[in-house]
Amino acid sequence: MKHFIHLKDIPAKDLRRILIDAKKRKKKRSKLGTLQTDNNAPLKGKLLIQMFEKPSLRTRLSFYLAIKQLGGGTITLRSNELHLGKGGESIEDTAKILSSYGDGFMLRTDSDKKVDNFKKYLSIPIINGLSPSSHPTQVLSDVFTVEEIKKKPISKLNITWIGDSNNVLNSLIAASVKFSFKLNIGCPKKYEPKKLILDWVKHQNKKVYIFNDPKKAVANADVIFSDKVISLNDKVNKKNKIKDFKKFKVSDNLMRYAKKNCTFLHCLPRGQEVDNIVFKSKKSKVWLQALNRAHVQKSILLYCFGKLR
Ligand code: CP
Ligand code: NVA
Repeated sequence: MKHFIHLKDIPAKDLRRILIDAKKRKKKRSKLGTLQTDNNAPLKGKLLIQMFEKPSLRTRLSFYLAIKQLGGGTITLRSNELHLGKGGESIEDTAKILSSYGDGFMLRTDSDKKVDNFKKYLSIPIINGLSPSSHPTQVLSDVFTVEEIKKKPISKLNITWIGDSNNVLNSLIAASVKFSFKLNIGCPKKYEPKKLILDWVKHQNKKVYIFNDPKKAVANADVIFSDKVISLNDKVNKKNKIKDFKKFKVSDNLMRYAKKNCTFLHCLPRGQEVDNIVFKSKKSKVWLQALNRAHVQKSILLYCFGKLR
């Protein structure tokens, strides 16, 4: 049994194995309908319990598809309908119940501590479906999308992030270390990544490159990622923060400083950080990026259930 909580804690070779499996499975599905099961239904009889403490469209649907296509099933819990959410039941007792009814647990939460506590008491795998400090399933799937579009290993590409130092960026930084790709980060000085994550990168003998000028950050980029300036857990002065990021909007003009065939990616939902013209351009592959979540999460589930080929 393996958990899937933060990319930085998962061996690089395991992450690569997941991507290899996802590529094979995606290829084999081209003639299958949405809910048709993969050959040999490897997770037949398995139940994935999903719990969302925050909104979700993509993660919810892609995990639904993922487990169904592997032959299993899922139920989605809303924490405010549980005793736990109302404060009347402990994480320990909730985790014991989840472990006896289900085979895997996917959690989206506002608290990293809660993920750790669940991990402590669960006897089934836990998958982090977004927490304040990371969004690992999104970013592993984004590595898959980049390699699918560019048809080469991500280690041969220049990746740029334009935006806030949030959960998605933390996972992208971890991915840059695990998959050895060059990562430029463009953000205002005040919003640079936390020392803790930069120290971890240094400790791995790797580097990320931070720029407070968006044009310098995107120079020579093969792929530009962006994300909302205001994340779901952001308790900041929203007006001020949006103003601080005014220069960091991904516009047609900014794209001109990147490589000619530069791809734009965004995990969605979007805000003001990207111009409509870029978002809807041919360079934008956001819909493929969203769909690939289901393909990669299937292989993440197989990894967690100890069934990766
Ligand atoms: N990208 C992503 O995680 O989307 P949702 O919040 O809709 O799940
Ligand atoms: N950084 C965003 C990602 C949403 C999928 C957030 O946490 O709200």
